[in-house]
Amino acid sequence: MAFYEKDVDVMIDSATVAAKVKELGTQITRDYQGKELTLIAVMKGSLFFGMDLARAIDLPLTLEVLGVSSYSGGTETTGEVRITSDVTKPMAGKHILVVEDIIDTGLTMKFLLENLGARHPASVKVCALLEKPVRARTKIPIDYKGFVIEDKFVVGYGLDFDEKYRNLPFIGVMKGR
Ligand code: IMP
Ligand code: MG
Repeated sequence: MAFYEKDVDVMIDSATVAAKVKELGTQITRDYQGKELTLIAVMKGSLFFGMDLARAIDLPLTLEVLGVSSYSGGTETTGEVRITSDVTKPMAGKHILVVEDIIDTGLTMKFLLENLGARHPASVKVCALLEKPVRARTKIPIDYKGFVIEDKFVVGYGLDFDEKYRNLPFIGVMKGR
């Protein structure tokens, strides 16, 4: 029995995730022809998704990671966001694609869009693997979207519960939550 089976059920299996990542990569490849693309993966949740997505994009691109910490009490965000690790290059004139694991309340992405927008990029778009629209507290335009899910706490493929389960190769749901 795998270590997670007692606590986690599969919600979206790894083949379905991989097919979606490929599809998003194809769309992004088409849309960014001739542009200088900078992919920013938001840590830590988007590391797996961001790196798989980068490999699905058939364009020269620059890879950046950005660390944020959303203050939370358990599984609830307070909306107060802090950059814990910034990108390595100036973003002025760049076509930025921010890659997120999940847009839940939207407060983290709202902060990131304001913060990155102030650096005079050529454009900023959003790619999110998951969206939980029921929980939205602000409207975020998601340019590339993987899956819309119901209000369940999900783990795996980068997403954690208390820093655990990020390494599951699928999107799972915590039993009894
Ligand atoms: P938001 O600011 O509420 O949109 O949520 C931002 C962050 O909260 C996401 O990038 C995740 O790291 C985390 N988060 C939100 N929902 C979930 C979930 O269901 N499982 C794991 N992490 C989540
Ligand atoms: Mg996150």
